[in-house]
Amino acid sequence: MPGNRRTARNLDLLMTVAWENDSVVLIDQTKLPNKLSYVRCKDYNEVAAAIRKLVVRGAPAIGVTAAFGLALAASKSKAKTLEELHAELDSAFEVLRSTRPTAINLFWALDRVMSKARQSKSIQQAKQSVLEEALKMAEEDIDINRQMGSNGSKLLQDGDIVLTHCNAGSLATVAYGTALGVIRSARENGKRISVIATETRPVMQGSRLTAFELQHDGVDVSLIPDTAVGHMMASGRIKHVIVGADRVLRTGHVFNKIGTYQVAILANRHKVPFYVAAPLSTFDLKSDPESVIIEERPVDEVIRVGKKRVAPRGVRIFNPAFDMTPPELITGIITEKGVLKPPFEKSLKKVLNQTTR
Ligand code: MRU
Repeated sequence: MPGNRRTARNLDLLMTVAWENDSVVLIDQTKLPNKLSYVRCKDYNEVAAAIRKLVVRGAPAIGVTAAFGLALAASKSKAKTLEELHAELDSAFEVLRSTRPTAINLFWALDRVMSKARQSKSIQQAKQSVLEEALKMAEEDIDINRQMGSNGSKLLQDGDIVLTHCNAGSLATVAYGTALGVIRSARENGKRISVIATETRPVMQGSRLTAFELQHDGVDVSLIPDTAVGHMMASGRIKHVIVGADRVLRTGHVFNKIGTYQVAILANRHKVPFYVAAPLSTFDLKSDPESVIIEERPVDEVIRVGKKRVAPRGVRIFNPAFDMTPPELITGIITEKGVLKPPFEKSLKKVLNQTTR
């Protein structure tokens, strides 16, 4: 079967998720930055476990990985009838969609692949169209990130310092990244851009992943504790904030990694433009802010730093993985179709009228 691995290798980018020899190959992000290693998933349950354990994370990467999970379920199936195959795919769909609740790309990707399976008229056609659709999504992801990068890079000037939170880079997508794609594109256009990455407690996506991938690609990057954001903004050196998103509502409410909201408040206080880079697949046109589920992660992530316990036994702990930034704190949303400006409901409508999702 064809794979998508070669494409990103040719682009000389880290390849976060790939289809290779009837399996899904993922960079093991739990091992970064100390070791660049890969995990090979041979069935959809292994794919689901990898998403749950954050071997792969980041909204677009989770979506494409889950799509490949369905492709695995189809290709490994021994079903004798189309109905049997559909029933097996339905089970895989349920397992995969229950892995993480907040990033909408997961549900978008699974629905898109399932609709291909349901339209198929034979077992062979279903198996083929499911894999083809997943591979197409992986290719599209890179193209969309490049387009988003090109749209967003026009906002940056030579010499700018950009602050980002969490990891919205190659490692959060198939390759190239959303927020970090904007920085890559600006650099490809000859602009010298420096990045300030927040550590992003408690899972440390900023230090473990953003600092790693930018260093890997030769981008000037400095790491700061999450608690230093206000101080850095007050110094006047940060020219822009660019973050990714796990879900953007039609009103422009943005759900992203916990801590994004406080970065947005500080940016607003210090008059630093705050941009969100998100493909249209991250938009949720149906939900209201109150109905989005914010993932609660294991308390252990907060109790320990590495293996060392840093909180007293018995203390109550909350560990929400995402927060919501309201539209009034957002300067613009960078998409593959252009940069949306407030009011977002209006600018989004305009973009959607020109495109079919
Ligand atoms: O818990 P994670 O690491 O999956 O959270 C990831 C984020 O919050 C990213 O900022 C978001 O998915 C955007 S990725 C392009």
